[in-house]
Amino acid sequence: MANRRPPVEREPAPPASVPLIWTVDGPDAVELDPSERERRRREFGAWLDSLVIPVQLLVTARRIGTPSGGEADAGAGLRERLGQDRLRHLAESLGRHPAYERRVHLVVSAPDSGARAAAEAAADRLRHAGMGVEACAPDRLPSVAAGTIESPRHLRAGAAWVTSVRVTRLPGRPVEPGWLWELVGLAAEQDVSLYVRPRPASSAQRQLRRAERAVRTARLAGAELGAAGDPRLEAGASAIRVLRRRLAGDEVRAFECGLTVTLTAATAAEAGQLADLLVARVRGLLGEARPATFEQFQARRDTLALGQPPAGPLRLVDTEALSTCWPWVDAGRPPGAGALLGRHRRTGALCQLDLFDVRRRANANCGIVAASGGGKSYLAGLLVLEDLSRGIASVIVDPEGEHEELCRATGGTYVNLGGSQTAALNAFDGGDPEEVIVTVTQVVSAMCGGLGPLEQARVEVGAREALARSADGPPTLADLNRILSERWPDERVPALLDRWTQGGAGRLFARRSTLTTPGELTGIGLRDCPAEWLPGATLIVAAWLWDLVRRDPQPRHIVLDEAGLLLEHAPLRGLLAQLARRIRKYAGSLVFVTQNVGDLLGSTTGEILAGNAGTLLLGSHHGHDADRLQAALSLSDAQRDAIEDCGRGEFLLVGADERTPIVVQAPPLHHLLLEAHQRRRR
Ligand SMILES: Nc1ncnc2c1ncn2[C@@H]1O[C@H](COP(=O)(O)OP(=O)(O)O)[C@@H](O)[C@H]1O
Ligand SMILES: [Mg+2]
Repeated sequence: MANRRPPVEREPAPPASVPLIWTVDGPDAVELDPSERERRRREFGAWLDSLVIPVQLLVTARRIGTPSGGEADAGAGLRERLGQDRLRHLAESLGRHPAYERRVHLVVSAPDSGARAAAEAAADRLRHAGMGVEACAPDRLPSVAAGTIESPRHLRAGAAWVTSVRVTRLPGRPVEPGWLWELVGLAAEQDVSLYVRPRPASSAQRQLRRAERAVRTARLAGAELGAAGDPRLEAGASAIRVLRRRLAGDEVRAFECGLTVTLTAATAAEAGQLADLLVARVRGLLGEARPATFEQFQARRDTLALGQPPAGPLRLVDTEALSTCWPWVDAGRPPGAGALLGRHRRTGALCQLDLFDVRRRANANCGIVAASGGGKSYLAGLLVLEDLSRGIASVIVDPEGEHEELCRATGGTYVNLGGSQTAALNAFDGGDPEEVIVTVTQVVSAMCGGLGPLEQARVEVGAREALARSADGPPTLADLNRILSERWPDERVPALLDRWTQGGAGRLFARRSTLTTPGELTGIGLRDCPAEWLPGATLIVAAWLWDLVRRDPQPRHIVLDEAGLLLEHAPLRGLLAQLARRIRKYAGSLVFVTQNVGDLLGSTTGEILAGNAGTLLLGSHHGHDADRLQAALSLSDAQRDAIEDCGRGEFLLVGADERTPIVVQAPPLHHLLLEAHQRRRR
């Protein structure tokens, strides 16, 4: 016996025709709000009902490999060191908490042109339902490498141990779409295959009548033996009755389905534990599953059957039950495009945010909202750093002086308004003269505590004249004041403007601007800017930003940290609303950061900002604020509670079709830069 070689799996016969395969991307059902989840379930049900051919939905989960590189290099520049820091962090974090890439494939065995057309139509319908559908070559799916039987419950394939489990009954009680997470979410490499074949109602009814007769016979036999009623038999009888009624009423369609899971582990014991865990999870949902004992070859082939009917048993189910098998339950992706912000709080999957991904996001704007100390500035800084590494520029308006080290260390510039007094802002800077005149008038109004209609008219006339007179570059506020003093020497405005064209204020407001076309990273610090100067200064900055966005369109973040401080000023609110609405036209992204929910939901400008943000990152909020966010964004109760529970660095990522709880984690060198301002203060 001991010398007998274990049976070796024969190479599977090649499929009769090349199967059609698509990779399909959809929203994570677990994170959707209840009404959206229900809508998606119905849509999936309608898609199933529209099938005229059998299909296989195959979910593959593969461990994300640890990236190589990241070795410290003493001579490297900071940019390079940041890149190495990121790689090392990724490798270490993936080593400690493995993450899995999960992909859903639609596989159709299409032997003739009719079946191919039906398969293409099925893929198209998914596309129209807003799913990301891309053709996938068969060799990108796992293949059945030959394995050997080592025990009734395991196969050995190379260094790995493989075990399969068949789900023989879908969950028995009403379950939410997303229950498949119980299977797919196991921390293991696996293939989950859901084979679905539409079945004509008449033949389904015949099968159900036969099943009903079998139940009756079993009941009679039990009664003759004096046994008490078997609850499983009764549950089965009731399910058959319901299904027959629904089919008769044409409410649903009938399908045959087979659900098989193949798990891969490093040892036989681990494979056994995974299989037991899976069976227990399905039973926990009142479904039924069993290890594929003595049929491991067959069960594994069934998961990789590439659209062929499985050899394992098929169950009769209706649209209602099948549509809960929504297979998109985790957006685990290997590191690729997008800013790596941290991990998914529930699944541990890597969390990447690509604000410029036009397929997934309505626009590249983003709101970061959390209580003070919740980690907003840190998160905004990490987003900027990450995107910088893929060549996306940023301008950060920094009211609290928290981003200076970040900007300087990465080779960017930092303009500290009101600080060293080398910085200057010129209201006359800008392309379009009519817009310049509007900005100048608003700035003068902010400096003079408002302008009457006559004063406003005079400032406009003066500004126009200053523009006309200046031959060499734009004029300044000092030029305007000279004109106003000449023309209307005894008026209030020139007298008041004297203050703003001399001394410290004059150095900031009455000189040629030091804000030039920015490089990759520019910070504008307002911390040292006296409160009185802020309205004028922020107005000029906002006008400059708006001009920059239009003059030099490119993917670029305009980050407004503590935007609430800026929203206090009426003319500025107008500019921000305009920026929020129109920046997408110029490929840019407005990232506004605030601690007040009221800044988003309580005012017209706030609502424009929120309404034009393709993405929101919500940190901790309590009581009334959490209620307001829940109502405005249709969050589920669990998501509302998650917001209340958010600690520092924890956020709920809210996009068009996603609600992802994340924990922000930065690589060590990134972290040092992001909290450098704290060390400066200590
Ligand atoms: N994800 C995080 N990991 C580690 N430290 C963090 C994280 N988020 C924030 N911090 C630290 O917590 C403190 C408060 O964060 P900060 O971003 O300034 O909060 P906010 O801008 O919301 O007021 C800072 O010292 C920051 O460095
Ligand atoms: Mg902050």
